[in-house]
Amino acid sequence: MGERYLVTGANGCIGAWTVKLLLADDCDVISFDLGADEHRHRLINSGQLPDIEWCQGDITDPRAVEEVVGRCDRIIHLAALQVPFCRADPSRGAEVNVKGTVNVFEAALAHDVPHLVQASSIAVYGANNDYPNPTVPADAPRLPRTLYGVYKTACEDLARIYWWDHELSSIALRPHTVHGPGRDQGMTSQPTVAVERAARGESFTVEYGGSLGFQYAPDIARAFIEASRQPTQAAPAFNLPADTMQVRSFLDLVTDITGIELFCGDDGLDLVDEGAADTWIEWIKEWSTTPLVDAIRESIDIFATQN
Ligand SMILES: NC(=O)c1ccc[n+]([C@@H]2O[C@H](COP(=O)([O-])OP(=O)(O)OC[C@H]3O[C@@H](n4cnc5c(N)ncnc54)[C@H](O)[C@@H]3O)[C@@H](O)[C@H]2O)c1
Repeated sequence: MGERYLVTGANGCIGAWTVKLLLADDCDVISFDLGADEHRHRLINSGQLPDIEWCQGDITDPRAVEEVVGRCDRIIHLAALQVPFCRADPSRGAEVNVKGTVNVFEAALAHDVPHLVQASSIAVYGANNDYPNPTVPADAPRLPRTLYGVYKTACEDLARIYWWDHELSSIALRPHTVHGPGRDQGMTSQPTVAVERAARGESFTVEYGGSLGFQYAPDIARAFIEASRQPTQAAPAFNLPADTMQVRSFLDLVTDITGIELFCGDDGLDLVDEGAADTWIEWIKEWSTTPLVDAIRESIDIFATQN
């Protein structure tokens, strides 16, 4: 076995893919998640559970976080509550998303883990009409429209403080709309639900329309893994490349493959169309992503195996 990675929120969509890719790289993995819900791991691993260390704990508990951080070399911090959960319980949202992140940084300091990557979000920006251009530069003002976005903004900022005060290296990645097997909760999960239903031969209506930046879950997991391996300076936050298109066009691609008619609403979500990913490309140097049609076909194949 190689290096030992801690993945917080490992039972989530991006987490499950991150675990799968780390194991393919022959890495040792510790999962840290509040829940014991394994369904995403089984979905993407032909019904099997990955052979890793499972640690059930709450990211808001500093002692639990410190214990597990003390046994790892690299940290991929994904545990969080998404937009609807933060909206439903703002206090718990702040606790999990902000305090939980502070706990991870403090534990990294305590155990001399020199670098970590955390999940931020495109939600740190406002909506299109807050900016002159729908493709927003990485350093554009952050004007979040949700508490979730405010919490993610705070986590990007606290990362900078840990760099200034302690030279603790970290990177924040800002996914937009992750799609693919395992994406079954959160505001932007409905296009994936449509793919899943179409794979079963059923129609589905996505409640919203507008433009979104689609990113395939294994590609985003790979971004987190690469970012966890490369210490940097001054805690940068990167947007990631996306297939930016209307929800209607995404659904049309699914219909072309499955023959199932899919529907969506007219109004877009309060998100920018796209975060410019040039600074990520400049930093990572070599980067490629799965072509969207291939990603949708692969998703349909995986969903079809569970039917
Ligand atoms: N999916 C997207 O499109 C998207 C977009 C932008 C940012 N992100 C961010 O990426 C990260 C991963 O997203 P995802 O789609 O995999 O989310 P997800 O909701 O599928 O998974 C989150 C995981 O965190 C765990 N968790 C929640 N509270 C916890 C706690 N108190 N202690 C420990 N674990 C806890 C959950 O049990 C879950 O397994 C999150 O930080 C999310 O905000 C995701």
